[in-house]
Amino acid sequence: MTAPSLPVARTTTESAPTRTSGTNAVGTPHARVEGRAKVTGEARYAGDIPFAELAHGWLVLSTVARGRIRSIDTGPVLAMSGVLSVLHHENAPRLTPGVGLMGPDPSTLLLQDDRVPYRGWPVALVVAETSEQARAAAEALVVTYDEEPHDVVFAADHPGAYTPEASGLVQEDVERGDVEAELAASAAVVDEEYTTPEEYHNAMEPHAAMARWENGRLEVVDSNQGSNAVAQLLAALFSLDAASVRVRSEHVGGAFGSKGFGAHLILAVMAATVLDRPVRVVLTRRQVFSFVGFRPATAQRVRLGADADGRLRALEHEAISLSSTLHQFVESSTRHSRALYGADALRIRTKVVPLDVPAPSFMRAPGWAPGSFAVESAMDELAEKTGKDPIRLRVRNEPAVAPASGLPFSSRNVIACYEEGARRFGWADRDPRPGTRRDGRWSLGVGMAASAHSAGVAPATASITAEADGTFTVRIAAADIGTGARTALTQIAADALAVSQEAVRMKIADSDFGPAFLAGGSMGTTSWAWAITEAAVALSKKLALGDPIPAEGVTAKADTTELVGGRDQRESLGFGAQFAEVAVDVTTGEVRVRRMLGIFAVGRVVNPVTARSQLIGGMTWGLSMALHEEGIRDTASGGLANGDLAGYHFAANADVPAIEADWVDDPDTYNPSGIKGLGEIGIVGGAAAIANAVWHATGVRQRHLPIRLDRVLTAGTATH
Ligand code: MOS
Repeated sequence: MTAPSLPVARTTTESAPTRTSGTNAVGTPHARVEGRAKVTGEARYAGDIPFAELAHGWLVLSTVARGRIRSIDTGPVLAMSGVLSVLHHENAPRLTPGVGLMGPDPSTLLLQDDRVPYRGWPVALVVAETSEQARAAAEALVVTYDEEPHDVVFAADHPGAYTPEASGLVQEDVERGDVEAELAASAAVVDEEYTTPEEYHNAMEPHAAMARWENGRLEVVDSNQGSNAVAQLLAALFSLDAASVRVRSEHVGGAFGSKGFGAHLILAVMAATVLDRPVRVVLTRRQVFSFVGFRPATAQRVRLGADADGRLRALEHEAISLSSTLHQFVESSTRHSRALYGADALRIRTKVVPLDVPAPSFMRAPGWAPGSFAVESAMDELAEKTGKDPIRLRVRNEPAVAPASGLPFSSRNVIACYEEGARRFGWADRDPRPGTRRDGRWSLGVGMAASAHSAGVAPATASITAEADGTFTVRIAAADIGTGARTALTQIAADALAVSQEAVRMKIADSDFGPAFLAGGSMGTTSWAWAITEAAVALSKKLALGDPIPAEGVTAKADTTELVGGRDQRESLGFGAQFAEVAVDVTTGEVRVRRMLGIFAVGRVVNPVTARSQLIGGMTWGLSMALHEEGIRDTASGGLANGDLAGYHFAANADVPAIEADWVDDPDTYNPSGIKGLGEIGIVGGAAAIANAVWHATGVRQRHLPIRLDRVLTAGTATH
């Protein structure tokens, strides 16, 4: 590895923002480089950018949950003002089965046949001169169906449940030791089922995509998490050379896993091809609830057996999640139990239940978020049963290597998080007995949970041009989905080039910049930073020749494919500890979170401002998951009963107290940047910390999310 040595960040407290010059950008707070453009409205999002001759597409979604399209009455709609076309399964361009992140994905094969796999499936796209005309026509379009019976009811004992095949994204089941014998020999046993509902991403910016053909190339301006992934998908679907597709996505107003690709994007390309005009399709908030993915419901059984001193003899975690009949998606909730605690015997199983619903998808900390709710709640129950402090119990069961894989950890500093968190939260003052603290009508309690998330790295390419004016232009197909990635990468590049951040121009989110992993899996910044650093090394070698820089500049490129692939196998994870204090009104069932503290071990922190924002954002999601979020599927229609922001409540300002997030030193050189992605870990463990605090306040366990008022009032029995 030839990366230049970068300064090690040891930031645990913020200092005032400083203008940096030279080689100390990483680790210092820095406002977003595009912040001014965003607050002045100068920054344009995919739905805002004007194009000459732009036509507007509006989606028509199925109103039945399963069946076949019998007829689409296009005549009256085509006669409406401004209408240019109605695309449907009988006239739409044919697609070649595309490849998604999890293999061939039938949900990309839109308007190809008369099958309706779920309610809300796109059955037509109406294109018109204005979006108002397109909407009016789409709403007037009459589609009739031959309806078939549907099944949308998720249950752990559903007869269709099956074990998914192991793959890159689905971990193998684990059976090690004799779980039953160890449970039988245990002094304390926890055996409970935990459930989580469907949850929806709801990025502030709804999905939008514009497609046009320009000089024989397909150009797409989209709101996505990775321009390359989208370009590759479109090239495959429309049978194009990779070089004939260009996808850009400069500013993205949130994604959280929902912006890998969307039906609107594929249909915009179809319409642009048929009409030979630029076409944009923007989703409404209700449509966002229809087909861009969601976190599937889970039912998780956790069995823990321990000696009287709290040492785990057995850990069993069976996680069942909702999937779709159209496309398998596995919520890998067992990631948490695979990584967190050592036990003599281990049984880990994954199952899915396919239903007539849209394909679920990645949602912030997929698997980790629901898995941590179940496992970290069960650990709290074991602490109660063994009379051990929840932190001591966890420390007692720290594994030497990753429990499921047997691989060494690249670093594991979770104990430092427990200790720092306990100190700052005042954990030592806690009376372990539940229901002992009151504040007027409020019953008070505190709880904690561990956090973890994989901190991977993937190949990327980057180029850096030394310009004749002394500045540097970095090009990488990274995505800044609102995280601050563009700013972090500017800091990385400045240090790698040993110049000030003002001398660096960061160009991202353009598939023409070459392959790069997308903003997902908490792997983006780590992966891109490595490629940028390598490009800086390559550039410095070129510049060392001392020649004057020509007008077109001097460019060096890097590709980290071999570096990333050539490493030994380790389990690389970020860790953390979350603490919550709640107040429960036992007469109304209302739960208020009074404070939350999260302490994390997330490698080298590039930008304390944006890092803290990511962690606090994640913790806010944890609060929201604990108390509010629940997609309710209507069994009669097969659709969501609350698929809009009036019915689907997520935590708003009035729900969220002061949330503190900080980190401990976590040196790790498994990847040369020392970075562990932190976009997702903030949500992991948050819901369990709150549920454990609710138990501490009331003496009643809450094993089903969200912790609704009725669940508090019915003493925690399952009312789902
Ligand atoms: Mo994220 S859920 O890894 O896109």
